Amino acid sequence: MKSTAPANAPVIASQATPLYAPSYPADVSRVVSILFVDQSGQLGGAEFSLLPLAVTWAARREVLLLSDGPFRTRLESLGVPVRVACDTRVSGIRKRAVHVNWLMALPGIVRQIRTIARHAESFDVLFLNTQKALVLGALGKPLHRKRIIWHLHDIMSGDHFGPLQRLIVRWLTRYAVDHVVANSHASAASLVALTGCAPEAVPVVHNGVDLNEFSHVDDADTGALRRRLGLPEDVYLAGLFGRLAPWKGQHIALAALARLPDLHLVLVGSALFGEQAYVASLREQAARLGVEDRLIFAGFRDDMPAWMKAVDVILHTSTEPEPFGRVIIEGMAAGRPVIAASAGGVTEIVRHRKNGWLVPPGNVEALADAIETLHAAPELAQRLADQALIDVSRQFSVEAYLEQMKRTIALATGVAAITNAASPASA
Ligand code: UDP
Ligand code: GLC
Repeated sequence: MKSTAPANAPVIASQATPLYAPSYPADVSRVVSILFVDQSGQLGGAEFSLLPLAVTWAARREVLLLSDGPFRTRLESLGVPVRVACDTRVSGIRKRAVHVNWLMALPGIVRQIRTIARHAESFDVLFLNTQKALVLGALGKPLHRKRIIWHLHDIMSGDHFGPLQRLIVRWLTRYAVDHVVANSHASAASLVALTGCAPEAVPVVHNGVDLNEFSHVDDADTGALRRRLGLPEDVYLAGLFGRLAPWKGQHIALAALARLPDLHLVLVGSALFGEQAYVASLREQAARLGVEDRLIFAGFRDDMPAWMKAVDVILHTSTEPEPFGRVIIEGMAAGRPVIAASAGGVTEIVRHRKNGWLVPPGNVEALADAIETLHAAPELAQRLADQALIDVSRQFSVEAYLEQMKRTIALATGVAAITNAASPASA
């Protein structure tokens, strides 16, 4: 990567030569073969972001997963070839890992580095979609010698990652990663701060949503969903969507629920990465606050558009800066007003009182006030939701996302320069 580091520091990206030199405009997804690597078998935001890219990549591509799970079945059902290479000694290491038994983990790490390198051999590019994929894929660079693109989905701050992971990322970014694409300016800035690389070396592509998935849900579906939940259709219902994890701040929403006796709340999502103790603490909190009869734990759901359209207001309550927040653009696509925690990538999506409502992260009082305000002013809530729908279709559509990702990959592989020179219209 290009770096602001001393002039003698290796600058890998600038040494990269074009992979292909077609004499005609080329769609990068037709000419460059890619091995995508993701550590998770679960369906999280990074995986939902990879999904349309892997599905629409026309040249040879494969997804290598370092854990098995519903992400594999989802990819396969959409015709994407998948391979699973799981090693429990590695999948057990968590992102804030401090006390890792390296002696136990090391053989697994070496094995996975070699597995990724072996699979990468027959592809042009190695696309690393998660932190562990980055570490294992980049450490194997001397074996596979493939061009590495890292899709950064995280804010690389001490809030989210331990010192060791940050050190490893700094080192790998400088010496092994050829190109990075970040999911938000907040994520990009955190990498620039961590590594000292040049800001222009970290292009940003925001996530996108498929608006068709949302327009196909009608009011009859959402009414039926409310009845299935045992809720009267006229009850004021807030929804919080996403995995149950302490930094996603479901406890903040429960505390706000306790302050608003007319409110009902549905939590859609489950603990994807073993946060069972947090789920238990949420249930205890609900009992302690006496809000159990106004709270629904819906678990993980596959039909997010229907769930989002069934609520009156959508909450986002992350207590740490959210790298991007797909659930926010999905809420906007559902045509519902969104109240979001103002930090990280969220401020690149939500404009306060214009297309949503921002509150300070972790502030129960501000969240409760915002819910009350929108409940009391349905025209204001509708105006925000209408603007949100316009903004999401202009800036956060899956089409725009794919177009920008492909353009970024094209630039990274040298295809775009040739394409654009041949066809100025495609620039
Ligand atoms: N999601 C889902 N079902 C659920 C809960 C969440 O399909 O029950 C999806 C949600 O629609 C979103 C993703 O999981 O696309 C979560 O992504 P986000 O970027 O909001 O957060 P992350 O968990 O990746 O930090
Ligand atoms: C990560 C982030 C989330 C982001 C998603 C997709 O999972 O936590 O904020 O929306 O990646 O980029």
